[in-house]
Amino acid sequence: MTVDPGHPAGPTRGSKIVAMGHYQPARVLTNEDLSKMVDTSDEWIRDRVGIVTRRIADNETVADMAAAAADKALANSGLTAADIDLIAVATCSSIDRCPNVATRVAAKLGVTAPAAYDINTACSGYEYALATVDHAIRAGAARNAIVIGAEKLTDITDWTDRSSCVLFGDGAGAAVVSAVADGEEPGIGPVLWGSAPEMGNVLTIEGWRPYIQQNGQTVFRWATFALPALAEKACTAAGITPKDLAAFVPHQANLRIIEPLARKLGVEDAVVAKDIVESGNTSAASVPLALSKLIERREVPSGAPVLLFGFGGGLTYAGQVIRCP
Ligand code: ACO
Repeated sequence: MTVDPGHPAGPTRGSKIVAMGHYQPARVLTNEDLSKMVDTSDEWIRDRVGIVTRRIADNETVADMAAAAADKALANSGLTAADIDLIAVATCSSIDRCPNVATRVAAKLGVTAPAAYDINTACSGYEYALATVDHAIRAGAARNAIVIGAEKLTDITDWTDRSSCVLFGDGAGAAVVSAVADGEEPGIGPVLWGSAPEMGNVLTIEGWRPYIQQNGQTVFRWATFALPALAEKACTAAGITPKDLAAFVPHQANLRIIEPLARKLGVEDAVVAKDIVESGNTSAASVPLALSKLIERREVPSGAPVLLFGFGGGLTYAGQVIRCP
């Protein structure tokens, strides 16, 4: 069998995150700005959700932001575009169906002939994408990948609906993921993933001109009651307990979800990502965006265990313990 050198055959022991990068558009939308657009207030938004600012993309597309984050991750990794044989993008807000965001990123970065796919499980998309890439590297179908979460949620936001327009923002986060060397421990643990399809109608982005619509209270109750046990299972799958975690990076949906989730999981001593405050809810971009910032600020030691945990529309969820690059 002839094997394209860009798509190596032969299974590996596993993969690890080598480096990360992120991108956010320049325009900042404050709660004060929103209070001039809809009947809301800085006090309500801070109190109910914990958001102070969010970033809004004007001219940038999902692919532009994805490529900018990927470019930074690649620069931080020491690899070049020629080394990359797989690109996976998690997004639920890309308007174009074809070509997908992953091939657009490949074209912008000059990556030739990568396997390239998009994945949509809404706000848990990044953890799903990371798992599929880890599985591909374990199976020997890829060696060096870029895994991106990128969203332009403000394209699908109803700016007249105060219950949702105060929540969302735009941005992207990316990781370079490589096969571990012989004898090296894998840096991406087993994924705990699943869904609650019977709750599909509580969060939707439907139709030809879609807007995000949700029953916020139902999502809120599900997130705070059902998810702590699932997040703990992701730790168990990695052979650790939540107490061993150096950091917890959950989907940035609401500070009033993140804080009880962390408390119920028992990770008070760990660094808990709270990028929601400055970035709002960026769906599949929120976890890689928050993790990339923690790494950039050197808040988590290299090699330390970090639980990533996403949840959102579908309803879907996924999480895994990774070793901090
Ligand atoms: N400003 C002022 N008042 C508001 C606003 C606002 N922006 N939005 C709603 N209100 C009002 C409502 O009209 C209501 O008024 P009423 O009592 O007179 O009827 C009151 O505030 C309470 O509204 P609720 O919807 O009950 O507010 P709640 O406390 O539940 O907060 C929120 C809403 C923030 C959406 C919360 O339910 C939540 O965070 N849910 C989870 C969201 C989530 O995690 N989604 C999943 C991820 S997103 C994704 O997957 C794309």
